[in-house]
Amino acid sequence: MVDGNSAKETGREGITRRRFTLGMLIASIAGAFGSLLALLKVLAPEKKGGGYATTIQPGDVLIYAKGGSAGSPITASSMNVGDAVLAYPTGKSSNPANLVQLIKLEEAAFKPPTDMSLTDKGFVAYSAICTHLGCTVSWMANRESPAASFTECFCHNSIFNPAEGAKVMGGPAPIPLAQIGVKVMQDGTLAFTSDFKGPIGPQV
Ligand code: FES
Repeated sequence: MVDGNSAKETGREGITRRRFTLGMLIASIAGAFGSLLALLKVLAPEKKGGGYATTIQPGDVLIYAKGGSAGSPITASSMNVGDAVLAYPTGKSSNPANLVQLIKLEEAAFKPPTDMSLTDKGFVAYSAICTHLGCTVSWMANRESPAASFTECFCHNSIFNPAEGAKVMGGPAPIPLAQIGVKVMQDGTLAFTSDFKGPIGPQV
């Protein structure tokens, strides 16, 4: 037989258990929501005022973005004509909007509208974020004819010509990849000399 006090205690225990379970459930949902937000932040470049916010400053040294050398400074001597690498400014690789494609071509291969004041010794750099829907672009090297190499976004096959200001050669990308200034430094590393000369990220 259960007396009145025991019944009250059992009732209180039930309420406490239910509150505890509810609390755990809310904490789990909040945790999952936090993880989802963190994942979205990694996948999508930071947006600010309708544009993609980069934090590149003139003087920032370019470092490898991927591979075994990720995080190490890129040296001019490590790249041949027709090579391209993905690069970040040193210390700022947590912002995907800072990702660029650094390319080396013959200086004579460049044509307008490439801004030659933003190139140095055949090095040119463009935003690596496709202007269609924001995928990262890839390099299609042509070893026999480096000047015929091009940048492609495999998401929907947009093609950009790096020798001509990254103008769109095909696919749905609405505008070129924005150029950014680079320069070979005395110690052989490369540094940025400007901000992007145009909008970056998806423009649709
Ligand atoms: S996101 Fe690059 S072509 Fe669509």
